[in-house]
Amino acid sequence: MTVDNSGTQPRDIEQLNFDRLPKSRAILDRAKKVLLSPTVTGPFRAPKAVAFVKDAKGSKVWDEDGNEYVDITMAYGPLILGHSHPVAVDAIRDACDKGTVYCIAHAPEVEMAELMVDAIPCAERVAFANSGTEATMHALRIARACKGKEKIAKFEGGYHGVHDYALVSSILADPTGPIEDPLSVPDNPGIPQGTVDQVLTLSFDTKESLDKIRKHKDELAAVIIEPVPSSYLVDMREFLQELRDVTRECDILLIFDEVITGFRLAYGGAQEYFGITPDMATYGKVIGGGLPVGAVAGTQEAMKPLITTGDAIQDFQEKLLTIGTFSGNPLTMTVGRAVLAHLRDNRQIYDHMRGLADRIKAEVHNFAEANQIDLRLIGLESWFIPHFVPSDPKTPRDLRDIADMMRQEILCQYMRYHGVYLPDLHTVFMSAVHSEEDADKIIDAFKKSLLEMREDGHL
Ligand SMILES: Cc1ncc(COP(=O)(O)O)c(C=O)c1O
Repeated sequence: MTVDNSGTQPRDIEQLNFDRLPKSRAILDRAKKVLLSPTVTGPFRAPKAVAFVKDAKGSKVWDEDGNEYVDITMAYGPLILGHSHPVAVDAIRDACDKGTVYCIAHAPEVEMAELMVDAIPCAERVAFANSGTEATMHALRIARACKGKEKIAKFEGGYHGVHDYALVSSILADPTGPIEDPLSVPDNPGIPQGTVDQVLTLSFDTKESLDKIRKHKDELAAVIIEPVPSSYLVDMREFLQELRDVTRECDILLIFDEVITGFRLAYGGAQEYFGITPDMATYGKVIGGGLPVGAVAGTQEAMKPLITTGDAIQDFQEKLLTIGTFSGNPLTMTVGRAVLAHLRDNRQIYDHMRGLADRIKAEVHNFAEANQIDLRLIGLESWFIPHFVPSDPKTPRDLRDIADMMRQEILCQYMRYHGVYLPDLHTVFMSAVHSEEDADKIIDAFKKSLLEMREDGHL
């Protein structure tokens, strides 16, 4: 599809998308009366054109009006095998026939935990939940109980979901304090000041963060970090190793939030990829095979506050409650088990995804450079974000300062018009089912979008 721009007027890309979405538009009008947002990303912030998905298969989604997109959102990460992969669908059918939730012991949960313990270096015990948010919430409480200390440290711009502790300084829009010693600030109204006071905020990849941990070691139960920060997709392996060393030296638990990186960066996640083993790690996304899931995995020592003694009364008084009606349900466990076993037995999937991402990055970079466009696709392995930046950012604050967010938003509209669903949060995920042909379409959509953005005065 090429936009006709034979006249002198710049295109109105939002209007063009609006015009081809009549059925979606009608649903959007209804949605605005009853929902807060038609997507996961917050309030109605794309007022003009919102595509509602009707169907999805493999690497494609179709909206209600029949427009086809190569999906590079992949539900923000879980769909490592693409939409409705036979491995997942067969497992869902199989599990549905046997009942979807019991709250009684069942083998698929054990088998899923066994797969995780085999794959994840730090995992000796696993506890299941229903989302990444729940997983990090449990992990922080386990750490406090394990160490008998109250504070936790996290990183400015580090995302760990939406519970109270997680929503302290997770958004980089308005960082407070010097980069060497950022302040803890609530990201939302409604976060108790008492919680904010229990969070020590650090900066990624600075020596001062290590000093700050040492200084507060007697109060700190844990440091939680995304091994690849979703706001800043760079390889910080030296810093991760330093963090491992300092937390060990200070008797503080190190928690890797592997909700995205788990089973994506490599089969064994960031721990295998970087060769660094934390005390605990949190999971979600990929391990559910497309169904809601969360999990905490950790060493025997770190998970001690959960491990039952066999004495029911004592356990009830002393052990943490990570229970949940749907936690470890047989449907999710059966699907997750099937998907993880498939990944374990087909490691070439990781090479395939990396190959596609590398080709897209290289070809788009070459094109952008040849046309003097400051676009960089920044990321690792099968995961990247297009940023309009004149140079490689040195820190997340630097990225926030130099990146043109408005252009990113506009790029989404052009990409979608050209049949590639670039998500609102701009994070791109490749899957096992994306093909070289899909990569051609993605590259082509980037090229057309960038040229048209320039013609229309956006670049
Ligand atoms: C690193 C990280 N932690 C936690 C979460 C929260 O997971 P969920 O959306 O399943 O609650 C996310 C979600 O994107 C994430 O990227």
